[in-house]
Parts: sequence; C-alpha cells; structure tokens
Amino acid sequence: MSGQLEGRVALVSGGAGGCGLAASRLFAREGALVGIVDLPTSDGAAVAAEIIRSGGRAVFAPADVSNGAAVSQAVAHVTGELGPVTALFNHAGTLIVKPFLDTSEEEWDRLMAINVRSMFLMTKAVLPGMIDAGGGSIVCTSSISAVAATPMEVLYDTTKGACHMFARAIAVEFRDRNIRCNAVCPGFIKTAHGNREVEALTRYGVDVSDAAIAAQQGRMCEPEEVAEAALFLLSDRSSFVSGTHLFVDNCFTAM
Ligand SMILES: NC(=O)c1ccc[n+]([C@@H]2O[C@H](COP(=O)([O-])OP(=O)(O)OC[C@H]3O[C@@H](n4cnc5c(N)ncnc54)[C@H](O)[C@@H]3O)[C@@H](O)[C@H]2O)c1
Repeated sequence: MSGQLEGRVALVSGGAGGCGLAASRLFAREGALVGIVDLPTSDGAAVAAEIIRSGGRAVFAPADVSNGAAVSQAVAHVTGELGPVTALFNHAGTLIVKPFLDTSEEEWDRLMAINVRSMFLMTKAVLPGMIDAGGGSIVCTSSISAVAATPMEVLYDTTKGACHMFARAIAVEFRDRNIRCNAVCPGFIKTAHGNREVEALTRYGVDVSDAAIAAQQGRMCEPEEVAEAALFLLSDRSSFVSGTHLFVDNCFTAM
C-alpha cells in the first residue's frame, strides 16, 4: 500500500533523529508534505534536503519544543510553507537516568518541559488549523515506561505516564471535531536515546544486557518499526481508532 498520507501535511517533532527521522522519511514516501521540527543544532535541514532530493516536499523548522514561542514560530513556519497540519507526530523527547534521590528539581522541570509541555505546546499550536481543515490525526510517543517502571527512571517514567494520558484526553475532547489522537508506546529502540538508556542503566547496575532485552522483547526495536506504527495511526486505515495506546514492544508489557 502506498500514498497513505497523500495530500496531508505531517509535522514530526524530533523529526531529524531516531524514530522521528524514520517517520519523516516514511511519511514523505507515503505522500505527505513533511514539516520537521527539531533542535537548531540537529540534522533537520539535511533531512529536509534529502526528502526534497528524493522528489518529496519538506521543510525544517528549528525549535526547542519545550519553548512556547519557538513552537508557535515553528508551526507558523510549517503551515506557511506547506499548509495546515493534518497529521501530527508528537515524538521529540529525552530521558534522565539517575537514582531518584540524586535527581534535582531542575531536572524534574526540564524533563517535564521537554517530554510533556512540548506535547501541550505543539498540539495547542496545531489544533486550530487542523480543525479548520476539517480534521486530522495526532500520535503522541509514550513508552512501555508509562506502565512498566525501571529503577533509576522515576522522572522519565512519570513524564511518559503523562504523555500516555495526554493522548487519550485529547482524543476524547476533540472526537466531535473529527480529530483522532492515539499514543505509540515503544520498548527499547536502537536509537541514540535507546543506546544512551541502555548504557546508563548498565552503569547503575540495572540488567539491560542483550540477554535481558531478549527475554523482555526478543531484540531491540528498529526505529522504522515505530514509524510504521505511527503511520498506521495517522493514516485513514485507523479511521475508527482513537484514544488508544499501541504498544510497539514485542510482548514486553504482555508478560
Ligand atoms: N529509544 C527508546 O528506547 C525509546 C523507547 C520508548 C519511547 N521513546 C521515546 O521516543 C522519543 C525519542 O526517542 P528516539 O529513540 O527517536 O530518540 P533520539 O534521541 O534518537 O531522537 C530524538 C530526536 O528528538 C530531538 N529532540 C530532543 N529534544 C528536543 C527538544 N527539546 N526540542 C526539539 N527536538 C528535540 C533530538 O534532536 C532528536 O532528533 C522520546 O519521546 C522517547 O521518550 C524512546
């Protein structure tokens, strides 16, 4: 099946790296005009150029997604270039791995801002245009960490719990305006984020060895596998799916 996002304007936050990069490429191949929102220091410009070279349309709008003014500007930039956003992938996020008693108030605020406030800001900036356009679909990146805790990750787990519920609450409030909203909840993924997490947990003595990962989820998830799940939820193939959590974890949370 191809052309699953034909005629849609897809905005991918964190679209220059990891699963966001896989999603930017996949959504462009599926016919979307792609707005990549990522840090000014990211590869966003190169990713947009790559999509354009392959015959697609894309624009890079640099922003720190935890900053309200920057998010408003980025959404205005994408909308001005490509039209109203009708597919939003709220993906950007990061993590802090640390014993809870060593974490600080600043770290709590920073992680809540990057992982949770970003979804609030981005969704609030995109929704009016999406509603005016007749509707659309939103996918928020949650995690297995929203429902299964890992030691040293209290702050991260808490932010993902909030993303988990944010997706559901948006779905319920905006169903009558033809907006669907769902969450993807991946297990450990082979990205910079996932590799950093495994390395840090190992340093703190948490067993995330290849054998432990194999027991929990068979193997590391590939970023493209998360992008495919997001594509399904953004496309019309999931037209009656809203307010749900799609676990992309190969049984991690089923066991
Ligand atoms: N990797 C995993 O194992 C895993 C598992 C479950 C959920 N997740 C979730 O996936 C998301 C990112 O993971 P990834 O694996 O694709 O990571 P990644 O680190 O490879 O990519 C994240 C992208 O987000 C961007 N980004 C980070 N902070 C930003 C900010 N403040 N403003 C704008 N852009 C920012 C980065 O520049 C990068 O391009 C997070 O929401 C994370 O919670 C990851």
